[in-house]
Amino acid sequence: MKPNEEFYESSPLAWIRRDLEKLEKNTLRRYLQCCQANNKPGRLLLEGKEYINFSANDYLGLATNKTIQKVLYAQAKKITSWGRGASPLVTGRTEEHASLEQTLAEWKKQQAALLFTTGYAANIGTIGALVGKEDFVYSDEKNHASIIDGVRLSGAQAVVYRHLDMDDLAKKLQKTKGQGSRRLIVTDTLFSMNGDIAPLEEIVTLAEQYGCMTMVDEAHATGVFGKTGSGLCEEAGLSGKIDIQLGTLSKGLGSLGGFVAGDQVLIDYLANRARSYVFSTALPPAVALAGTLAVEEIKRHPYWGEELLNKARWLRETLSKMGWDTGSSCSQIIPLIVKKAAVAVDISERLKNLGIWVPAIRPPSVASEESLLRVSLSLAHQQDDLMTLVEGLRQLKVV
Ligand SMILES: Cc1ncc(COP(=O)(O)O)c(C=O)c1O
Repeated sequence: MKPNEEFYESSPLAWIRRDLEKLEKNTLRRYLQCCQANNKPGRLLLEGKEYINFSANDYLGLATNKTIQKVLYAQAKKITSWGRGASPLVTGRTEEHASLEQTLAEWKKQQAALLFTTGYAANIGTIGALVGKEDFVYSDEKNHASIIDGVRLSGAQAVVYRHLDMDDLAKKLQKTKGQGSRRLIVTDTLFSMNGDIAPLEEIVTLAEQYGCMTMVDEAHATGVFGKTGSGLCEEAGLSGKIDIQLGTLSKGLGSLGGFVAGDQVLIDYLANRARSYVFSTALPPAVALAGTLAVEEIKRHPYWGEELLNKARWLRETLSKMGWDTGSSCSQIIPLIVKKAAVAVDISERLKNLGIWVPAIRPPSVASEESLLRVSLSLAHQQDDLMTLVEGLRQLKVV
């Protein structure tokens, strides 16, 4: 229904309109769009036009993987309920959920795993269950919003350390030594906007030194890093040294869901105490099944991650040579840092006109003056797609 101008002027909701106008003025307003679901890997269909899609986190193209689809469609026929109608603790958890949890635990080399509806829910629920008002959380300044929200909701004292800066973390741990009851260090392993990687070994050492729990968010590393693709904990040989390992099924695994893997006692505790787990309906079983099939597919193709990272290395080096600032990225996520939101939006729009979809990332997703274009690579991209992007950016003559 079309909003009525007069109604808004006199409505208690008038402030909402003013807020939206402010966003618009600062090039920060977003508009909903409706993409068409399609089965073309690496492509986006919107309003009848096809774009090369550099905006998805479907890093391995598993959202449209034919092998997974074939098995999924055949097996899903046997699943009699689409929705579960209850939270996992009531009657929502099925064989499909249990089997995915078992698969994830084995993959992550942990005793057990717990499946949440999203990675966002996993972060807020887990952090809220682990710490409270009496406690301290040490958090990298570029951690994902779901970690930040989890810390805020928990009521714990947040100690934010400079991005990847272990001297700053050590200083802050020392300054607050002996304070608080429980202490937690939490970090993304692969940072979602800058594509750089946390120094996990140093974090583990500091956690041991200062008696902290360690929690990592492997959302963007899952499926890409590590010998079997399970993430950066595996790659760093730290699977047994990090207390709480969180991941998502919504990115490299091409589906939906979040999970935590760790000791059985941790999983038992979260199943009882994580509010986003206890008070939310279980995922549809068919979605859980898709997650299991995705892990199996990755295990069968342990070389996929390296293939993707090699593509990313080529693109990053090519763009750097052209003068683009790719920051400290060393992964399939390549930021083109332009600082100003308006510049990021302008470049993104001009690329769209060339049939290339690269999203402009602006506050609040990044700090002000840190706006960027986020190039997210997938195995589904062919060398021709990368060349089209390189040529498109060259044509713009921005750098
Ligand atoms: C680092 C990180 N953690 C968690 C999430 C949330 O995951 P999900 O999309 O499964 O809710 C995201 C999503 O963007 C993320 O980037």
